[in-house]
Amino acid sequence: MSETNDSSAEESRRGFLGSFAAWAAALVGAVLGVGPVCVGVYAFIMDPLRDKSKDLPKKSRGSGADSEGFFRVASVDEIASVVPRRFTIVADKQDAWNFIENQAVGSVYLQKSETGDISCFHTTCPHAGCSVAYEQDSAAYHCPCHNSSFKLDGSKLEVDGSTNPSPRPLDKLDVKVDDNNNVFVRYVDYYTGKHDQIEK
Ligand code: FES
Repeated sequence: MSETNDSSAEESRRGFLGSFAAWAAALVGAVLGVGPVCVGVYAFIMDPLRDKSKDLPKKSRGSGADSEGFFRVASVDEIASVVPRRFTIVADKQDAWNFIENQAVGSVYLQKSETGDISCFHTTCPHAGCSVAYEQDSAAYHCPCHNSSFKLDGSKLEVDGSTNPSPRPLDKLDVKVDDNNNVFVRYVDYYTGKHDQIEK
């Protein structure tokens, strides 16, 4: 073979290697560039602390409450007597991973006075969070855990021979009634063990 042919074969080989190196460099650069973007997108989607409720349709974020935080709990007819009646608060729940509709999130006692006024108390004992129950015999709310008792108006009841450990009265909640006799409660949880009623 002639010298001319040898040198053109060598140039062609160098050209091929040069092109291959350029493509390889471009490929590596693309992978290195896209990798962090993918990792970032994955981390964003999988982050359990991200507030996914923002992804929900606006209608689903209401958790069943109106814009002022009131839940429909009952109709006036369901609170027929002065004896308190317990109701469950139902709302949509959202945690880091799940959106679940119509879950029981708490409970309240609704009661009607002799003049027809409706009042509402949280069923959670302000002492340490057990659930109070209304006892018809004593016409009072009682907590079985450490013997706190409360009158119908929610104030603390001191029973002879025992100490009431609750630091405050039962937690009273705001109530409103609409033109169709629907009873709405502004349901809020409060810290237990505090002298003052502090919203969580
Ligand atoms: S939790 Fe109710 S008295 Fe202690």
